[in-house]
Amino acid sequence: MLELTREIQRLKQERNAVILAHNYQLEEVQKVADYVGDSFYLSKLAANSQHDVIVFCGVRFMAETAKIVSPTKIVLLPEKDAGCPLAEMITGQGLRILKSQHPGVPVVCYINSSAEVKAESDICCTSANAVKIVASLPDRKVIFVPDENLGDYVAKQVSDKELILWKGHCVTHAKVQPKDVNQVRELYPTAKILIHPECNPAVAALADFVGSTSEIIRYAQLSEESTFVIGTEMGVVCTLKETMPNKQFFLLHPGLVCPNMKKTRLESVYRALQDQQYEIHVESEYALRAQLTLQRMLEVV
Ligand code: 13P
Repeated sequence: MLELTREIQRLKQERNAVILAHNYQLEEVQKVADYVGDSFYLSKLAANSQHDVIVFCGVRFMAETAKIVSPTKIVLLPEKDAGCPLAEMITGQGLRILKSQHPGVPVVCYINSSAEVKAESDICCTSANAVKIVASLPDRKVIFVPDENLGDYVAKQVSDKELILWKGHCVTHAKVQPKDVNQVRELYPTAKILIHPECNPAVAALADFVGSTSEIIRYAQLSEESTFVIGTEMGVVCTLKETMPNKQFFLLHPGLVCPNMKKTRLESVYRALQDQQYEIHVESEYALRAQLTLQRMLEVV
């Protein structure tokens, strides 16, 4: 492990590479990364990167986003099958049909989407800025794709808007049910329950706080409380335990494990740098329009 870490550091220098890792990555991967964070933070870093190579430890749409905002860079996804079922729940064609049913209505797409869907959208958002992005639009009606749960959460925060939602969801967050929250309330009555907005609305309604992965981490850091139950992927719990050993963290549901995020190992990061794999390419047909959609997000927030 130490040997592998040393090799990764050496190759990183040699290739002038930066390693970005999402909060859901394995601890061994987070430890070797230059930056760890949520989708929004990592997309900003990718857009401003001065490196020749970006190794994106996450899932495909994240690496694709990095390539869209930094088209001259070599972007590598260490595990080529690390996908996102939520992003795959909508196609460009599906979105075009929805748009044709609501002519003139602007489209906000969650960053968990393909380059084609981004190209068909007006502005992108992440879970950390979705409310702000939707609120920034002058229109009353807004199409929001593909995460129905995040869309519902946003709609409740911007009640003057009417959101037209797509029926997509994160299969990992969807496992959590209200009864799970009620159970942990009984078990840990003083604990704060922090939940990701990809959980279903009945679950989010029972939370003490709803926010992106980084917002959940920040909440726990700033809080005076000592016990927290975390309603998002288990990678966040690892970070919390590691960085705040004097506080207690519990995972809300044992199924909160994203199998795609867990595909990337230290070994994968090494091979990515060594063999320059797997390089991300974005079809030229979508690249420019998808870039505009992402740039609009980066300008608003
Ligand atoms: P973040 O916006 O917190 O990075 O969440 C991304 C994600 O895919 C959650 O499942």
